[in-house]
Amino acid sequence: MEEKIIYDFDTVVSRQGTHAEKYEARQRFFGKADVEPFWVADMDLPTPGFLVEALKARCEHPMYGYTEQYDGIFDSIRWWMKNEHNAEVDGRWLSLSPSVVTSISLAIQAFTEPGDSVALLSPVYGPFFSCTKQNHRKVVDCPLHIEHGKFEIDFLTLEQQLARPEVKLMLMCNPQNPGGRAWSFQCLELVVKMCAEHGVILFSDEIHSDVVYSPHNHQTVLNIPEADAISVVAHSIGKTFNASGLQASFTMIKNAELRSMFRSMQERVHAADVNLLGKVALREAFSPAGAEYKRQLLVYLQENIRLVCERLRQIDGLQVMEPEATFLVWSDFRTFGPWQDVFKKLIHEANVALSGGNFFGPAGEGWFRINCAHPRSVLLPAVDRIVAEFGATEPGG
Ligand SMILES: Cc1ncc(COP(=O)(O)O)c(C=O)c1O
Repeated sequence: MEEKIIYDFDTVVSRQGTHAEKYEARQRFFGKADVEPFWVADMDLPTPGFLVEALKARCEHPMYGYTEQYDGIFDSIRWWMKNEHNAEVDGRWLSLSPSVVTSISLAIQAFTEPGDSVALLSPVYGPFFSCTKQNHRKVVDCPLHIEHGKFEIDFLTLEQQLARPEVKLMLMCNPQNPGGRAWSFQCLELVVKMCAEHGVILFSDEIHSDVVYSPHNHQTVLNIPEADAISVVAHSIGKTFNASGLQASFTMIKNAELRSMFRSMQERVHAADVNLLGKVALREAFSPAGAEYKRQLLVYLQENIRLVCERLRQIDGLQVMEPEATFLVWSDFRTFGPWQDVFKKLIHEANVALSGGNFFGPAGEGWFRINCAHPRSVLLPAVDRIVAEFGATEPGG
């Protein structure tokens, strides 16, 4: 019998010399080159050894030329979607794409015209806004509200917004970044129903779908029958396998007409492929070995999240959103003064670089997001420094 691999997420692995954005961009973004970084949403935890070995093996061959999209890649994606998400995916629905954000931008260009509007639920991952604006479309924002510490959708407002004739596309972050909400089937069904009723195409960004903590489950839009005619679902190995630098993502589009519109746009801008190492990674990661890695990773991350939330709750006046999904913790620092002052204090007193809420739209102002995908020996002392700084501050001061 094969020995089970136990993954080590505790050892600190230096990223020095790898040009990791999370580290190298600290001076530029935070004005302090040695502040400890918990911002960019990649992990400071190693990708599994079997994946590293597969990449090395390919690198051993000295020719890195044009590489076809071989069946094994699509077989792996289909296996993963069935095994991990209970979704039957037909190989014909799949299109490879360099990144999920590329696919968002392509969908905007394929399904809307300049001057049209794109609906979204904020706060949400910044490129939902920037891709819309850079493509000269308007954002129609339906801010989420908080009930019992979790984000909820204001369906009355959403319905009115989707009914506006200029709204042609909705971008849905499923699960939600930054709040870590794993949307329920019923909730997604309602979003789908409203989009279908008003002729709005739904883009479901499911990049965080593998990182969902028990007892919650990821609900993919692929399993909502009414979505078949109107949806694009995007996923990637980026988050789950700490492989964002490999740029290996894909979309799943059931409707033939939408698929053809999306693919024409991909061809127009020549963005219908993944580089050769990304192909190796997709093929290898989405496998039983990858599923085992993911299971162990989730155990580690869930405990990190629990410990971080437990610590942050010691700060009077801080609202902490305990995530159901993602390795990110979203916290409301608004009682501690203007966000610029909090930002400075986090950097200069607590020595931590967090993602500022403005990146997620106006509704995020005053909030900060902590990336918990770090070894505990690094993460917890950093959180303790935040607690020491803000726990000692009177809210309002
Ligand atoms: C919701 C969401 N979508 C997309 C991305 C980026 O994906 P990619 O690197 O494939 O463009 C991120 C990264 O943080 C994300 O949180």
